[in-house]
Amino acid sequence: MDTSRPDKEVIDRLIGEAVRVLKNSYAPYSGVHVASAVLGSNGRIYRGVNVENSSYGLTICAERSAISAMITDGERKPLIVAVVTDLEKPIPPCGACRQVIAEFNPEAWIVMYSVKSGERIIVNLKDLFPTPFKLSEKQDG
Ligand code: THU
Repeated sequence: MDTSRPDKEVIDRLIGEAVRVLKNSYAPYSGVHVASAVLGSNGRIYRGVNVENSSYGLTICAERSAISAMITDGERKPLIVAVVTDLEKPIPPCGACRQVIAEFNPEAWIVMYSVKSGERIIVNLKDLFPTPFKLSEKQDG
């Protein structure tokens, strides 16, 4: 598996795609706006934002929105997942999102970016989340 660090050009493109949809984040309760852009192995980019709900626990994170869009399109392998926020510091994917990304690629690159500070952090999911839960060898499902 190719786990070499992605090029700056690709990272910039993904961040840009996430920034474009950040305004669509629905976060009236927390006020934390998050957007994600996922690069699939097919070269396509899938985007998502966080979608909150008045029943708080129903909130969907941006990363899981983007991964769902990828799966809906028939792509199964995220190579890079960008997470963009309007908080001062870049944020890592929450535990639930780490597990969902790991389902499809435990060695995906994670790019975190703050539109406020311009700070970016790049890590591999295998370092952020080394032991994902696995039920069994995945079927084709
Ligand atoms: N959030 C995400 O969209 N992704 C994460 O990985 C962490 C948290 C969202 C969920 C909620 O709408 C807001 O950030 C505050 O928790």
